[in-house]
Amino acid sequence: MSSTANTDMSEFWNGEGGEKWLRFQQTIDASLLPFGRKVMAAAGILSGERVLDVGCGCGDTSFDMARLVGSSGRVLGVDISEPILAHATARAMSIAEKNVTFERGDAQLHGFDAAAFDLVFSRFGVMFFDDPRAAFNNLRAALRPGGRAAFICWRPAKENEWVSKSLEVVSRHVPLLDPPGPEDPGPMSFGDPERVTRILTASGFSTIEVNSFDTPFTIGKNLDEAVAFLTQMGPASGAIAQSGANEMVKSTIAADLSDALAPYNTGVGVTMDAATWIVTAQKAA
Ligand SMILES: C[S@@+](CC[C@H](N)C(=O)[O-])C[C@H]1O[C@@H](n2cnc3c(N)ncnc32)[C@H](O)[C@@H]1O
Repeated sequence: MSSTANTDMSEFWNGEGGEKWLRFQQTIDASLLPFGRKVMAAAGILSGERVLDVGCGCGDTSFDMARLVGSSGRVLGVDISEPILAHATARAMSIAEKNVTFERGDAQLHGFDAAAFDLVFSRFGVMFFDDPRAAFNNLRAALRPGGRAAFICWRPAKENEWVSKSLEVVSRHVPLLDPPGPEDPGPMSFGDPERVTRILTASGFSTIEVNSFDTPFTIGKNLDEAVAFLTQMGPASGAIAQSGANEMVKSTIAADLSDALAPYNTGVGVTMDAATWIVTAQKAA
C-alpha cells in the first residue's frame, strides 16, 4: 500500500472499524443499495466507462457499476482497509468478475495512473481524509480531462433521525464523545455543503452540484439487528465503548433503544429517515 497520511483512520479501518464493517456487511449492503444507485444515476454511467470506486469497502458498488459499464469498461475499487479489501477481492474471485479489480491504498496519496478514469465514484467513502483537498486533487489527476466525480455523503447528524435518535437514547446512560471539529475527518464531516464545495473548488473541480437526497434507511431486518447495528457500528458505538459501560448498562441501553426504535419497525425492517448529499463535479475538459 502507498504510505498514508491518514494514520488514525487507517488504524480504525484496519482495526475495529474494519472488523465491525465486515460483521454487518450483508445488512449494510442491502441497506445502502438505494444510496449507491442514486449516485450511479446522478453520474449517468455509460457502457465502456472506466470508474474509480473510492473507499469501495466490500465492493458492492464496484460490482454494481461493473454491470453498468459492461465488458468494455472497467472498475477499480480502492480502499485503505486490508481486511475489508480482502473480502472484496474474495467476492470478485468467487463471481469471476473480469472487469473489476481492487487495490489497497490511501486514496489521498495513491499513485493512480494519470487521466485513467472517466468517473470517480464513492458511496460514503470520501469523508475520512485528513487533507480532503489533497485527496480530491489526487483523485482529479486520475480523471481524464472532462471526467467527473459523483459521491454521496451524510448530511449533519441532527438531520439524520437514525443518528440523532440513537445518540439521544445512549446519552441517557453514558457521556457522548466530544463532537469532532469542523475540519476533522469522520462520517459526518461533509455535512456542510459549503465546505464540500470549497474543498472541490480548491482541488480544481468545477460545475459542482450538491443536491439533497432524503430516503428511508433500513438499519436492521428486525429490532435486535437494528439495536446491534446502532450500538456496535453506529455513531453512538464510540461513546458506549469509551465509557467502559458494564454488561448491565449495555443491556439497559439496548432495551431502551429497542423501545425507541419500536415505532419504526415495519415488520420487514426497522426503517428511519436518512438525509444525504449527492455531490457531482467535473474536471475541466
Ligand atoms: C463507510 S465505509 C463505505 C464503504 C463502501 N463504499 C460502501 O458503501 O459499502 C468507508 C470506507 O472508506 C474506506 N476509507 C477510509 N479512508 C480511506 C482512504 N483514505 N482511502 C481509501 N479508502 C478509505 C474505509 O476503509 C471503508 O471501507
